[in-house]
Amino acid sequence: MSAKDSDADRYAVVGYPVKQSHSPIIHGLFAEQTGENISYELLEASPEEFEVAVRGFLAAGGKGLNITVPHKERALELAASASDAATRAHAANTLDFSNRVIAAHNTDGSGFIRDLQTNLGVELTGKRVLILGAGGSARGIILPLADVGVGDIAVANRTPERAQELKDRLSEHTTIEIHTFADLAEHTTFDIVINATSAGVKGEAAPFPASLFSADTFCYDLSYSLNDTPFVLLARNSGAGTAVQGWGMLIEQAADSFEIWRGIRPDTKPILEKMRR
Ligand code: ATR
Repeated sequence: MSAKDSDADRYAVVGYPVKQSHSPIIHGLFAEQTGENISYELLEASPEEFEVAVRGFLAAGGKGLNITVPHKERALELAASASDAATRAHAANTLDFSNRVIAAHNTDGSGFIRDLQTNLGVELTGKRVLILGAGGSARGIILPLADVGVGDIAVANRTPERAQELKDRLSEHTTIEIHTFADLAEHTTFDIVINATSAGVKGEAAPFPASLFSADTFCYDLSYSLNDTPFVLLARNSGAGTAVQGWGMLIEQAADSFEIWRGIRPDTKPILEKMRR
């Protein structure tokens, strides 16, 4: 892959900010592995600039985009067509321009489930799952979890109204139990605890009760970092059996995007090992 290769098909990730994105490295490794001739850029665009940036990239011959915070909902609205996953998530993380029109997809949910089931070997069927947070990241994983047949889904959020909104919004698809962080101390029976808050990324402490974690609890942080994330540290120090951060989800969702664009799915195992190192 080379940005200078004029024959290369152009892709990019659009975000605000975007410079922290690992997507150019990941897609570069995918291209190297599969022999696909692509270039992959960072495209910073504010909410006001977003639509012009997307249409401009398409007009300039670009083949597709990844979409990150804060543009995922707007990306879906811009698209001429949308996959079931994008429609159900009310958000798109992948735009495909194959036919010179904008088609929206969402690979966050599939990437998340693949990391849990395939990479980490987590049994999800019938499990009692707690999601910490009720923002866009939480919303993106709830229906994929329901689809694979987890048992109960609970959501706890700092702002209770937002958890209630999420419950109402998804009520025709799945049942959600609502908690506050405080009342979680009384509910220690979750098999799987997922951090979907942005507290750690922002360097803020979140009051998750230590009693949530036991040797049988599997903990997953949707955030990722070169060091242990604050949630992973808290879970581990509080006695969680397993606590992992979201590198695998990042790579699996990228592989699903790559497959949508190029028709070939990279082997994620060596890439995940490389990124983890
Ligand atoms: P994202 O797309 O990453 O989900 P978001 O929609 O802004 O971003 O949601 C951020 C989530 O992290 C919310 O659930 C937010 O809680 P509030 O709804 O109460 O704002 C949660 N969050 C952010 N900072 C937090 C903190 N310091 N402690 C606890 N929760 C926090």
